[in-house]
Amino acid sequence: MSEPTFYVTTPIYYVNSVPHLGTAYTTVAADALARYRRMTGDDVMFLTGLDEHGQKVAQAAEEHGVGPQEWVDSVAPEFRAVWDLLDISNDDFIRTTEARHVRGAQAFLERIRERDEAESAEREPYIYQGHYEGWYCVPCETYYTGDQLEDGDCPNCGRATEFLVEDNWFFRLSAFQEPLERLLEERPDFVQPETRMNEVASFVKSGLKDLSISRKTFSWGIPLPFDDEHVMYVWFDALLNYITAIGYGSDDPDETALFERYWPADYHFVGKDIIRFHCVIWPAMLMAAGCEPPKHVFAHGFLLTKGEKMSKSKGNAMSPQDLVERFGVDAYRYYFLRDVQFGADGSISMESMVQRYNGDLANDWGNLVSRLFNMTEKYCDGRVPDCGDAADGCADDESTELVELQAIAGRLPSAYADAMARLEYVGALEATWDLIKQTNKYIEVSMPWQLAKSEEDRDRLDAVMYAALEAVRIAALFTAPVMPKTSAEVWRRLGLVDDADAGLDSLVHDLADRASWGGLPAGSTVTKGDALFPRIVEDEA
Ligand code: MSP
Repeated sequence: MSEPTFYVTTPIYYVNSVPHLGTAYTTVAADALARYRRMTGDDVMFLTGLDEHGQKVAQAAEEHGVGPQEWVDSVAPEFRAVWDLLDISNDDFIRTTEARHVRGAQAFLERIRERDEAESAEREPYIYQGHYEGWYCVPCETYYTGDQLEDGDCPNCGRATEFLVEDNWFFRLSAFQEPLERLLEERPDFVQPETRMNEVASFVKSGLKDLSISRKTFSWGIPLPFDDEHVMYVWFDALLNYITAIGYGSDDPDETALFERYWPADYHFVGKDIIRFHCVIWPAMLMAAGCEPPKHVFAHGFLLTKGEKMSKSKGNAMSPQDLVERFGVDAYRYYFLRDVQFGADGSISMESMVQRYNGDLANDWGNLVSRLFNMTEKYCDGRVPDCGDAADGCADDESTELVELQAIAGRLPSAYADAMARLEYVGALEATWDLIKQTNKYIEVSMPWQLAKSEEDRDRLDAVMYAALEAVRIAALFTAPVMPKTSAEVWRRLGLVDDADAGLDSLVHDLADRASWGGLPAGSTVTKGDALFPRIVEDEA
């Protein structure tokens, strides 16, 4: 294959609980990007998975009265089921208890040790034995010094921390101070959005301390290959999933070829709570082993309900399943990507979800499709009319609305691409809605129901109907990354695909070409079908 590659990842989620709207948010955003990049012709690798080791998961197992492996095996299918429900098109799903990960993570540590030995005359080893005395937050699986705590509690989640005294293995993070400063300087888009970059840069500047990378007071983790009394620190283990999933440390040449092909990753998507791990520790680990850092890390904000971060521990986490049942999967995906600026915190509520649903989806998009397809059945025998050379515009309609409609459709591929290059889902969807709204306006102004009354207006009617149907075809292409099901259904109703179950990203790999005006074949059979987004009455929501 010679297409450009595109590798995007989500964090691997802790299996202490089931997926909630927060974890689903990252995953849906990554999915929309992966689908879009497939449609532009990239060879995409989209990875998600589970972080199954560490004290937090071991404690959750204990609370449920089962062993840790049994526990993670029971939760993993719940994650898979929710991702299926949300139409997540991940190419792989990694669990850190899998043999491929354990092997790869151990190989990675061995690799650093080999380099330490080979370069021992020139520098201190990156991995060394030391003594840790300090604080640890189990829910965040993070070490803290006393002065980082806030009133003695974890500065991140506010919960109690515990004091650890252990002889551990350390990673010499301090040796990467300069290389990291250089990386941030040379690649200003390494961390996105910019505010997060500033945060990371000032953290690095404040001075990096070495990191304890093993624990020996509990055993739920990957044994260090050179000291099996210790298990790997869960973050060190977890970050490695991004390379073990694509064959790092494997003996199988087909698997290692994936690493050659996809690494460095184009984007790690993370929440803003875990940027230090991804933007400081992770690139330093990779440099220590002689690997490239990822190209970009994008940190999105938190979903807030009534101004508070939504999380299971705060008891304000809504379930994705409930919302999908009420609104449908595509409306769910649309809402989070349209209502929350990716990168910023965003308040979510049932009221705003109903508003978006009824306004953008039921009224603008769903209504357009039903009205227009109904009219096609009524006035055009259920077929896309022929209006001559469609690519040159339909000569029988010279209205300014048509000129405007075609202009908006013409601008859409680049407007959408520009927005997606900045991961501005809101902008990409707004550009798509410009086309949807203009199509509605075009129909209002052109009044096909009037034209249908007289045989004299037949050519004009055909021209108008063709143009509106063509605009819908194009709009469906651009709603596809965010709303794969309904977009494919619109294409099915336009007679362009037989099976609406396969997303358009599995069929279309030349998005800009497919979006050029005139691509809708005359004569194609149009079926009307049920409302795509039946209106929701507010009290029912
Ligand atoms: N296991 C680690 C990540 C390891 S990656 C090598 C972890 N897991 S987690 O289950 O706690 O998930 C954290 C991620 O879930 C956040 O970074 C973010 O992507 C997402 N979110 C969790 N709660 C969230 C909100 N309330 N809002 C938005 N996203 C949030 O940390």
